[in-house]
Amino acid sequence: MLQKVVRSTVIDAPIAQVWEVLRDFNSHDRWHSAIEASRIEGDERSDQVGCVRSFSLKDGNRIREQLLTLSDSDYQSTYCILDATLPLQRYVATVKLKPVTDGNRTFWHWESTFATPPGRERELAEVVARGVYETGFRDLERHLRGGGMQSPIERVGMSPEGGAAVASRQVAITRYGGPEELQPQAVDCPPPRAGEVRIRQRAIGVNYLDVYLRRGWVPSMLPLAAGEPGVLGMEAAGSVLDTGAGVSGFLPGDRVAYLGPVPGAYCSVRNVPADWVVRLPVEIEDDVAAALLLKGITADYLLHDLARVQPGTRLLVHAAAGGVGLLVCAWARRLGAVVVGTVSSEEKGRIAREHGSEHVIVTRDYRFAEAVQRACGGADVLIDGLGDQARDENFAALARRGHWISLGQASGPLTPLAPDLLVSKSLTFSRPVVFDYVSTPAQLASRAQRVWRALEDGSIRMPPIERFTLDAAAEAHARLESRNTVGPLVLRP
Ligand SMILES: NC(=O)c1ccc[n+]([C@@H]2O[C@H](COP(=O)([O-])OP(=O)(O)OC[C@H]3O[C@@H](n4cnc5c(N)ncnc54)[C@H](OP(=O)(O)O)[C@@H]3O)[C@@H](O)[C@H]2O)c1
Repeated sequence: MLQKVVRSTVIDAPIAQVWEVLRDFNSHDRWHSAIEASRIEGDERSDQVGCVRSFSLKDGNRIREQLLTLSDSDYQSTYCILDATLPLQRYVATVKLKPVTDGNRTFWHWESTFATPPGRERELAEVVARGVYETGFRDLERHLRGGGMQSPIERVGMSPEGGAAVASRQVAITRYGGPEELQPQAVDCPPPRAGEVRIRQRAIGVNYLDVYLRRGWVPSMLPLAAGEPGVLGMEAAGSVLDTGAGVSGFLPGDRVAYLGPVPGAYCSVRNVPADWVVRLPVEIEDDVAAALLLKGITADYLLHDLARVQPGTRLLVHAAAGGVGLLVCAWARRLGAVVVGTVSSEEKGRIAREHGSEHVIVTRDYRFAEAVQRACGGADVLIDGLGDQARDENFAALARRGHWISLGQASGPLTPLAPDLLVSKSLTFSRPVVFDYVSTPAQLASRAQRVWRALEDGSIRMPPIERFTLDAAAEAHARLESRNTVGPLVLRP
């Protein structure tokens, strides 16, 4: 019969800080007093599912264990013993964390099942319960308070001067081109400089802007010096490793997300200016933050600041089932707008309707003006991320005094518009960029807060998130360009 040992405790530290230690399958010799030494076999990373760690215990025993699952969004990992000098057979253990409701403490559940030789059940259950789990609880708490063995946070340096480089992985290009130019590589992330926060990233938002940068359409944002790698990506979520001089308001272990106008987010550890960073509420998971932060803030400024959408505003939204599109449609509908969305397939149309598109126009060849005129008599506001291929139809789809917001150029850069083209219907034209709407920490914090509130009160609905590993960024780009994605895409380091 299998033995089951279950232990739990509350650790007086935020969940991200506890998880930062526990997710590292090779960390125990730095905090668990029963472990003499730990090493990962082969060249595997210590958070790579399948990696094997080899423990020597202080009592002379040796154990080899394999990481079976690791979920940063659920704060959970499972592992098993492969072989051991202790007679623990078929041993499988789960570590799971939950935030305690005040947000600053962590509930830690540790359980395992295993078989033992007959007659040794109680003895070995005691070893696991007390010698491993309860000792581990006490040791980790002490370790996080700064006593005892050295923490990984201390090892990377909490002081502005004393930090060390941390191993990171990035996806970079060395020349502009297709998705195949995106190449993963191992790098070191240096300590944060004054005003910077170093972040262990757990989820990175993919935006269509990343595609433009990869293609070389905006070289001023991603200039490629000969042979130098250029790293894409404008936003990510994770936890603070350490901070540079002069940074206040962030502590190691804080869960955070950021967006900023300088690319470089396609990596596992990054330094960013503290002004770009917001703390995350407990209920907003890393994937959700990376999927929604930039796109949700875009929806917010478009609808509230630029278009000033009111009940009855006739709003035309292109790519209505896309990352930005689903959020804009849902939020606009909540504001009382008449929402008309264009999409390129019936399936996307179904999802766009579920997220607030009252009228859906299915078109793959950018012909929609007649259908818009039929549905609502012309658009008061047009949110256009398509660019050139939709140019002429956009003019025809706008109502008198309509406002064309040119958000992006998924179909190609917009050829220049002569101002006189706007005269016939007294049209207005805007070319906004999200970063100008979060140019101070206060603006960023309040807009991020509005997005989380909109999710909570149902103004926006949680879109489906398509996830890729960081190393598979090329695949994510190819998918986004294929026009087959629905909702946002996220990379997981
Ligand atoms: N200026 C800003 O502040 C700001 C901020 C965020 C995003 N944006 C822009 O908003 C737009 C949406 O961004 P997103 O990241 O959420 O992307 P997305 O909408 O998820 O993906 C782009 C969508 O564009 C449509 N599309 C039409 N023609 C295309 C073509 N030739 N190739 C590829 N896609 C085509 C596709 O939808 P259908 O197949 O259904 O047509 C596709 O799914 C982009 O233009 C982006 O640059 C601007």
